[in-house]
Amino acid sequence: MQIDVISSVNEARTEDFLRKTVIVIDVLRATSTIITAFDHGCEEIVPAETVGEAKALQQEGDLLGGERFCRKIMGFQLGNSPLEYMSPVIGGKRIILTTTNGTKAVRRAQKAENILIGSFLNGRACAEKASTFHRDVVLLCAGTNSQFSLEDGLAAGYIAEHLIKLKQDAEMNDFGRAMIASFKQEAGDLKGALSHSVNGKKLCRIGFDEDVNYCAKMDLTDTVPVWNGHSLHVSMPTARSKTIALS
Ligand code: MLT
Repeated sequence: MQIDVISSVNEARTEDFLRKTVIVIDVLRATSTIITAFDHGCEEIVPAETVGEAKALQQEGDLLGGERFCRKIMGFQLGNSPLEYMSPVIGGKRIILTTTNGTKAVRRAQKAENILIGSFLNGRACAEKASTFHRDVVLLCAGTNSQFSLEDGLAAGYIAEHLIKLKQDAEMNDFGRAMIASFKQEAGDLKGALSHSVNGKKLCRIGFDEDVNYCAKMDLTDTVPVWNGHSLHVSMPTARSKTIALS
């Protein structure tokens, strides 16, 4: 098995995904939000690239969620704070979600054989699920405006480390090795690492420091959202799934 970590959407080419399992990672905050939404009963998430597309996709009963410049979009019911998605309001709902980088990364991975949603919140479960497909794995860091974001690389390192334990003959690209080393260096204080990252500082500055702390939590859940060709869903609740709670 080959495991490649790609530093940002900008570095990804369609052929990198063919016949592969892609794990999309946007720790701050899109993939952390998606995982949290499913853990709190959301039925389906449709990633949209633009605000206009999200509005056009909305049907009766759907909720619109997402951000621009990290803030809730005017007229949308939900923003992109994972804490907002812990509400009973989202139970059984289809959510149309558009974020600046994360939902674009999911759409960019369309040619993959399997697409999974990963973050620190579900890192171990995500690696376990990816390994069951017996395909090469690409960890796609969403990044920010086509640039690498540290928090995505650290989560990729965390997930890649689990994958290596599961598939000991796996080969990894150099960037993946560097991200495993970075994760190990920062693992003792992930909250600190995230809150000192560019995106973490930006979110803390505008009052989302609780989001940053929450997104640094590891393995809170076994929920791994997957792409079914049209939207994201969770195939079946796993017995070990825990409910994400603020603590
Ligand atoms: C994104 O998709 O760019 C992010 O999730 C932005 C955010 O933190 O709201």
